[in-house]
Amino acid sequence: MNRLENKVAVITGGASGIGRAAAAMMAAEGAAVMIGDLDQDKAAQAAAEITEAGGRAVGRAVNAMEEESLHGLVESAVEEFGSLHIMCNHVGGSNPRKDLDLLRMDMAEFDRTMALNVRSTVVGSRAALPHIIAAGGGSIINTASVAGISGDFLQAAYGTAKAAVIRLTQYIATQYGEQYVRCNAIAPGAIMTPALRDNLSEDVIESIRGHNSLPFIGAPEDIAAAMVFLASDESRYITGQLLTVDGGMSSHSAIADGRRSMLS
Ligand SMILES: NC(=O)c1ccc[n+]([C@@H]2O[C@H](COP(=O)([O-])OP(=O)(O)OC[C@H]3O[C@@H](n4cnc5c(N)ncnc54)[C@H](O)[C@@H]3O)[C@@H](O)[C@H]2O)c1
Repeated sequence: MNRLENKVAVITGGASGIGRAAAAMMAAEGAAVMIGDLDQDKAAQAAAEITEAGGRAVGRAVNAMEEESLHGLVESAVEEFGSLHIMCNHVGGSNPRKDLDLLRMDMAEFDRTMALNVRSTVVGSRAALPHIIAAGGGSIINTASVAGISGDFLQAAYGTAKAAVIRLTQYIATQYGEQYVRCNAIAPGAIMTPALRDNLSEDVIESIRGHNSLPFIGAPEDIAAAMVFLASDESRYITGQLLTVDGGMSSHSAIADGRRSMLS
């Protein structure tokens, strides 16, 4: 409790899944939270739940693909709560029906994916940085993915975009560390959210579970807890890092499964 007392946070894509859990957990730790989402009703609903639980939150519509809209969200957080310390550039994703292998990938989806994941992180950070610096420092947290750390047969655009988010994180950390701005990324593995359920069949989810070292699929709260840590002063000496939260999916080599069968 109170690990984020007197802090103000903005979360894009905060009305569902991981973002919603992060908003609730940050508010429970004492932060005032501005939840921005394309779905205004769900953003307002998420904020109302936090308020009912005794926290401070406001939900607003934002389109993270639009520069003016993102700047407006950040400005409204500062107007509402007086300052800004934590920026979560959380919006992301791609359409796995259009984001395929390189030759079959829809190029319009490639451009959309870069805008949704990379440009939104650039713009969100540019909007937040002057306010975080004015507050004496703070934490930018970018949501990447395990898709950004190795290749796959599908979603070439998504993986490329998340890799860019990871590198961008290091650039922000390098360029604004002197002003006490920390910037880190989180790479979630498979997390049980509406996006995962909508995009993957039960069979695929089960096969992912089989590749985790831990025998389960993570919950939104598993990522939210990592976000709270990176937002709090407990991580004050950590910047420019990628924190992978994936149940061990990326902790072993691709041949590990075959070698396990050699044990029996
Ligand atoms: N769920 C997973 O397994 C997983 C794994 C790795 C990375 N991630 C990343 O986590 C983040 C969120 O994923 P999730 O699974 O919680 O998704 P989700 O679908 O549950 O929630 C996404 C939210 O973003 C909002 N949104 C979509 N487009 C937007 C836009 N242009 N502007 C503002 N809001 C917008 C949606 O309305 C929704 O509320 C993404 O960056 C995703 O790439 C998720």
